[in-house]
Amino acid sequence: MGESKPVESPPLGPGAPPRETAEVYGTPGTEDRFKDLADPMRDIPDDADVGAEGVFEDSHIAEVLDSLDDELIALAEVKARIGEIAALLMIDRLRRKIGLDADVPTLHMSFTGNPGTGKTTVAMKMGQILYKLGYVRKGHLVTATRDDLVGQYVGHTAPKTREVLKRAMGGVLFIDEAYHIYRVDNERDYGQETVEMLLQVMENQREDLVVIMAGYKDHMDRFFSDVPGLSSRIAHHIDFPDYSVDELMDIALLMAESQRYRLAPDAEKALMDYLELRMKQPRFANGRSVRNALDRFRMHQAIRLYKSAERGRKLTKKDLVTIEDADIRQSRVFKGGVYARDSDQERPDPS
Ligand SMILES: Nc1ncnc2c1ncn2[C@@H]1O[C@H](COP(=O)(O)OP(=O)(O)O)[C@@H](O)[C@H]1O
Ligand SMILES: [Mg+2]
Repeated sequence: MGESKPVESPPLGPGAPPRETAEVYGTPGTEDRFKDLADPMRDIPDDADVGAEGVFEDSHIAEVLDSLDDELIALAEVKARIGEIAALLMIDRLRRKIGLDADVPTLHMSFTGNPGTGKTTVAMKMGQILYKLGYVRKGHLVTATRDDLVGQYVGHTAPKTREVLKRAMGGVLFIDEAYHIYRVDNERDYGQETVEMLLQVMENQREDLVVIMAGYKDHMDRFFSDVPGLSSRIAHHIDFPDYSVDELMDIALLMAESQRYRLAPDAEKALMDYLELRMKQPRFANGRSVRNALDRFRMHQAIRLYKSAERGRKLTKKDLVTIEDADIRQSRVFKGGVYARDSDQERPDPS
């Protein structure tokens, strides 16, 4: 720790008097202090070009927003909110460039919605956006749940939470099912310690860490009302709706394409039928169920091809890339079967 320097300028943080007010109404003696404070508003003419195009281009922000649009089906509202946040950061950056200081905008967020609605995926994109706009140093995403943060014994919680926070610094800390951290009905729960540490970091280190809390909407609402000071630290609450069957279909086609598969013409109908049935079953998890279903269809295709090759049939490229109607129709879903395991409920994708 170096010696603390004498205060040269008045505080500019929250609660500080607006500069003009202080200049006009300031107590005698303050005028001199304010004179030294460089006020760029005074030196820069109002019609000065601030070089917006250059900053926009350097940040490649348009490309990131375009890729968000291309790689994610639907989510119009979510995309619009992210566009707004990007605009805020962009303008803030331009203001800083010419010396118009302001508080760092609070960027902590909550993503609410059912499993598989794209929360983790969008959080990853968010990390990239914040990085491109120079708001975080690294832009990586660290995913944590209660188990990563809260210890089982006295003295274990603080080091665990500190370790996760340390890893996340310079990027985004994504806390999945955040409400599990804190159990209001159990006052001996160690989660309280984690919550307190999070609140502190969210306030004091918000220029270097963005926290995104995710989970079911109703649970999250309860969590916010149970933990005072949490909701007010979160600037952006974004809702992720369930997908319609058409949207799920588009997600499936996009996923298939990105893995170099195509659907035979009658297989598209089978997929639509599959999705309509699967949506109504328990443990349906939107995009995640689509991904899992595709994995199973690939498996069925592989077995079909392997068997036919064994029988001496020559396999072609078309065989390798095509999912047939039969690969989908043999799913248990068409036989009134239900997925017994929790496989579609998940943990967040590690990748
Ligand atoms: N709008 C979407 N467009 C394309 N794929 C999506 C979309 N939403 C979700 N997915 C896919 O569904 C899977 C689950 O998404 P994820 O972000 O893990 O959901 P959540 O975190 O809300 O549970 C991922 O493979 C993801 O790529
Ligand atoms: Mg997730």
